Amino acid sequence: MEKNYSQNDIYKRRVYASEVLEKENKEILLKGWASAIRDLGNLIFVILRDCTGEVQLIAKKDCKSFNEIKNLRREDVLEVEGKVVKNEKSPKGVEVQIRKIKILNKAEPLPIEFSGKISTDLSKRLDNRFLDLRNPKNKKIFELKSKIVNFSRNFFYERDFIEIHTPKIVAQGAEGGSELFPILYYNKEGYLTQSPQFYKQMMQAAGFEKVFEIGPTYRAEKSHTIRHLSEFWGIDSEISFIESYEDIMNLLENMVCYILDKIKENCSEIIDYFNIKFPKYKKPFPRITLRDSFKLINRNGTDLSNEEEKLIGEKVKDKFNSDFVFITQYPFESRPFYTMKNAKNKELTDSFDLLFKGMEIATGGQREHRLEILKEQAREKNISLDSIKFYLESFKYGMPPHGGFGFGLERFVMQILNLENIREAVLFPRDVERLVP
Ligand code: 4AD
Ligand code: MG
Repeated sequence: MEKNYSQNDIYKRRVYASEVLEKENKEILLKGWASAIRDLGNLIFVILRDCTGEVQLIAKKDCKSFNEIKNLRREDVLEVEGKVVKNEKSPKGVEVQIRKIKILNKAEPLPIEFSGKISTDLSKRLDNRFLDLRNPKNKKIFELKSKIVNFSRNFFYERDFIEIHTPKIVAQGAEGGSELFPILYYNKEGYLTQSPQFYKQMMQAAGFEKVFEIGPTYRAEKSHTIRHLSEFWGIDSEISFIESYEDIMNLLENMVCYILDKIKENCSEIIDYFNIKFPKYKKPFPRITLRDSFKLINRNGTDLSNEEEKLIGEKVKDKFNSDFVFITQYPFESRPFYTMKNAKNKELTDSFDLLFKGMEIATGGQREHRLEILKEQAREKNISLDSIKFYLESFKYGMPPHGGFGFGLERFVMQILNLENIREAVLFPRDVERLVP
């Protein structure tokens, strides 16, 4: 719909930096930050930045705001009136001749350099995060992250899934106890949720059949790594009446390909900005058992270390030309108690990890839906049945066979954009040392 701006009063209409090119020879009003100032004596260039990008402004000596422009400091907040004129030498091919300038707010000297011209170390950047995010490249990470969330949500909605919201304050962990954040919940001990696992399963007992959740997850990760956060966002899904964990791999693979297709269609500008190769993906993703994946790298074990995931990622890329690979059939000893054991080999489970460029981005599988076996498996892991009573209860009155996955949003963003550290994919990351800002 056409926006109804008064024709007589052009200055009521604010123009964004990205729109300036269409406004040649027109008088416009811009608002934004002075991201760079170049004073040549009789001539001053100002680069104005707003949420859409940058535009070059120019002031000559005869401009009535010339003295104010002389005193501008980087990152002052401005309102500018001026005329758009052609200038082949300016980055956009046009520039704005300043007629009048109003300083809406002054900026103090800047504590960090965020223009990208000099590299600033990550910890300092994170300390001054709101400034760091004025760098267009850093902001683009979050433009992409926001699109990915939207695409994934569309994927599920198009397939008639129900979006659920499970409690983030809980009474127990689901994935093993050691990584829990305890909180004081009135007079009881509670925890921040480690995963929506129990609740998304209970929604299968509720008969919802197809659910997903996009939400925060908390893990008291003790180690400092480039891929672990204390607070991250998961895209979780759980579905009923599956025939095997293959159904879950198909679902996850479809979601990943859907998101990547949409990024390709709609976000090429972001991908170009990062100058990266688009991931190689084609359905079906290669599926290799954990045992065979160890053979690929001439090793052995019950779970993959970060380094082993990386080596396997490289081998798979060479062999299958795919950036994605499912590693299947992890042994029960390295999986949570709720995981379905493999029917042929009870040491193994019907579970998988999805690796993307040699890093785990998702875990999933079929769940044990038969109460007696589930209880037995909990006992095997030394979990007190009393502590998970409410969960076990939901298996008593008709729990269908089901399964699902948990997918790490920040890991996915990190791997698409080849970021060096997962913290770059979080606005205000939380880790062992960082609780502020
Ligand atoms: O592999 P995880 O621990 O699996 C679960 O939580 C299961 N409930 C999933 C299921 O449905 N069976 O976590 C899922 C994903 C990981 O693959 C990883 O991408 C991400 O969440 N993740 C983290 N991301 C950042 N920092 C951390 N500390 C993470 N821990 C897990
Ligand atoms: Mg996992």
